[in-house]
Amino acid sequence: LAVVVLGPQAWWFSEEEVSEALGGAPVVRAGHKDFPDGETYVRLPLELRDVKGEDVLVVQSLAPPQDKSVWQLLLLVEAAVGAGARSVLALVPYLAYARQDKRFLPGEPVSVKVLLKSLAAFGARALFTIDAHSPKSLEHFGGYYENVLLFDELAKAVASGEGGWELAVIAPDAGALERAKALAEALGASYDYLEKYRDRLTGEVKVKPKALSVRGKVVVIADDVISTGGTVALAARSVLEQGAEGVVVAASHALMAEGAFAKLSEAGVKAVYALDTLPPKEGVRYVKCLKPSLRRVALSGLFKL
Ligand code: R5P
Repeated sequence: LAVVVLGPQAWWFSEEEVSEALGGAPVVRAGHKDFPDGETYVRLPLELRDVKGEDVLVVQSLAPPQDKSVWQLLLLVEAAVGAGARSVLALVPYLAYARQDKRFLPGEPVSVKVLLKSLAAFGARALFTIDAHSPKSLEHFGGYYENVLLFDELAKAVASGEGGWELAVIAPDAGALERAKALAEALGASYDYLEKYRDRLTGEVKVKPKALSVRGKVVVIADDVISTGGTVALAARSVLEQGAEGVVVAASHALMAEGAFAKLSEAGVKAVYALDTLPPKEGVRYVKCLKPSLRRVALSGLFKL
């Protein structure tokens, strides 16, 4: 027997779509509140659904404010273990802290390691996430994990929105090259990448000039995360200067921090396509991520109804 628990940061997913994708699995929402002093409280609604002896899938995206979302996830995992679940699985559509996957400067932590080891330590047996910044860093979890890539789904949305144009997919940095390649293959388009440098002290981003074959084409910039929009805006300017007909973005995760949308529009970006791994933001064209991700959970054989 198995049950899905939707955490506070899964509020934009409907119980029906989750249940339907998992062959009619029971779905409950966790209770949550913040104490007046700021501490976090969560609770499994055991009066609605006991989890004793069952496989429990906790769905929680690590949306801003990330630290609160992380903490809610850890508390829910511990609560499910404490309530006697047979095994606890976590579906984390957006994995926060994944970009701090190394010590870029001496004295820094490997934040993603802290997060993944904590999840495992409190009893998560398996982790499913979508397009983690560096898939290799998921090994810190130490247990079963899957990094779900949904470029075919993103490509479908881009193809229907930008139909009629010759497309070229560009990665804004070498780290996104595999993403650009996968998206380009799904779109039947060419791909290339720019070289980006980030000043680790000031955070300032620069792009090395590079000739790209984009003249007369609509460029699709492919990246994992849009945060401030700075990376994509630089790439957009670079391809428009080289004669691109237009530029759109396809990203797995649209954090869209304050001012990101305006920054992208000013740089000439005419559409933002993203998976709905994070709470909806105005202006973003969303592609649903849950059904294909839950299919992977079902196929793993770890969640048995
Ligand atoms: C960095 O390597 C990531 O893949 C993204 O390119 C970056 O985090 C996006 O951040 P921003 O939108 O603030 O430039």
